[in-house]
Amino acid sequence: MHPETLEKLEVLRLHWRKLQQRPMRQLFAENPNRFEDFSLNIDDLLVDFSKNHLDGEALAMLLDLAKSAGVEDARAAMFAGQHINTSEDRAVMHMALRNGSDRPMIVDGKDVMGDVRAVQAQMKQFATSVRNGKIAGSGGAFTDIVNIGIGGSDLGPVMVSEALSPYCDGPNLHFVSNVDGDDLADTLAVLNPATTLFIVASKTFTTTETLTNAHSARHWLVETLGEEAVGQHFAALSTNLEATSAFGIDDDFTFGFWDWVGGRYSVWSAIGLSVMIGIGVENFEQFLLGAHEVDNHFVEQPLAKNIPVIMALIGIWHRNICEFSTHAVLPYAQHLHRFPAYLQQLDMESNGKSTAKNGQQVGAKTGPIVWGEPGTNGQHAFYQLIHQGSDIIPVDFLIAANPHHQLGEHHDILLANCFAQSEALMKGKNIDEVRGELRLAGMDEEKIANLAPHKVFSGNRPSSTFVFSKLTPRTLGRLIAIYEHKIFVQGVIWNINSFDQWGVELGKSLATELLPMVKGEASTEAKDASTQGLLAHFQALKK
Ligand code: F6P
Repeated sequence: MHPETLEKLEVLRLHWRKLQQRPMRQLFAENPNRFEDFSLNIDDLLVDFSKNHLDGEALAMLLDLAKSAGVEDARAAMFAGQHINTSEDRAVMHMALRNGSDRPMIVDGKDVMGDVRAVQAQMKQFATSVRNGKIAGSGGAFTDIVNIGIGGSDLGPVMVSEALSPYCDGPNLHFVSNVDGDDLADTLAVLNPATTLFIVASKTFTTTETLTNAHSARHWLVETLGEEAVGQHFAALSTNLEATSAFGIDDDFTFGFWDWVGGRYSVWSAIGLSVMIGIGVENFEQFLLGAHEVDNHFVEQPLAKNIPVIMALIGIWHRNICEFSTHAVLPYAQHLHRFPAYLQQLDMESNGKSTAKNGQQVGAKTGPIVWGEPGTNGQHAFYQLIHQGSDIIPVDFLIAANPHHQLGEHHDILLANCFAQSEALMKGKNIDEVRGELRLAGMDEEKIANLAPHKVFSGNRPSSTFVFSKLTPRTLGRLIAIYEHKIFVQGVIWNINSFDQWGVELGKSLATELLPMVKGEASTEAKDASTQGLLAHFQALKK
């Protein structure tokens, strides 16, 4: 981290010490305009960050920190196609995939929009033909699509297709990611090979899990339909066109993308093909449009009015000043049930790093542990800890004003619960309030003395709330892009490369080394005692 940023963090820490004497209730009482001052919107999409424990002075200092850390220059460098992914020497240009304007997007001296539009045209043609049955399987129109991929080649399409399920009117979508054979076997068990299309999604086309699943799916298909059916029933999404053709996938059924699209930023690319088949071309275009609107907002708005920048700075405040180590994303929208899992890869694979861009240690905490589940289910599971646990967990709540299914009072109850949680976290309930309530209920003083401490809520627990009109394709595009740019800004402040992922490599290479030992074909002698013991126990149990 830059020494100047570290110094500014120190000053912010001093401010936090003072601010802790002023609970959030007091901050609201002191400033009747706190909601207006601490909320921003893009059209109907509002982000209320007033229930975070910071004041105007803290925010001004954080904005100054963002400026001095070079956020504006870094943003310009990313949009100019500079190789900001330094350890892999690549540009970062997923914004080109949703560029709805005439603006050229330059990578290595070339406007990539021509290539992007060509693949999009190919995808549209293919998706439409699959949907209307012009492209069909050997048994007629495709009834089922199986996307085989993992990480960014799975989480994006699966999360988006779940989130937009009310718009899915094409063939049934299935997603297989885990190399655990149960995943593929359970999926295939209900499918008819003659009407199933497999989409093998892999940026590198070298990922063990995906290739293992793809080969097994191929075997399953060939067993009933013969080798000649492969071309008709397999499509590929990849940057590695040599490997896709070696697998036997027809060029017409292969959809390319480029090394400037990171895996976890790839749902906007050909990787989104299964989604496009499910929701149709127009809805997919709306999804891209939403993200493009956020790109414009991110580029054009001053830092103080910039939603991704403000969300990033609140995250820096929580992580580096308040020292909170996790961040919960709690959508009050059942269709967003995979959104926290998607954000886990987006955030933790991007900013889960301790080495700065210059090869030195960052010298401060970086990305938090991201987790979450939809409300209200979480309320009956882990919210106890969020309200009264010894860790403070900043929360993002997400809620739509209008549901897809208007069932009696359901949506009003859902909304009331969401608003209740953020209010409870912020205000809490002190011991005098608890005692007063118990006295009013007629409890005797001895019982009150025993029970009251358990019913105290400390309050001052931070949350931000996103409220939007409806979970449409456009809104989902906006939400994802807000988080993408938030993560980017944090990476700039921490001076890390948010676009590589070397941390996944060691486990991969050890798995390759261990495979012959698991098969019992190689000696385990060189392994540590625990690994040897585990392997021996496994071999003894293996039937
Ligand atoms: O293991 C990490 C990773 O490289 C992710 O970054 C990526 O999204 C995933 O594996 C899948 O990679 P691929 O699309 O190349 O199969």
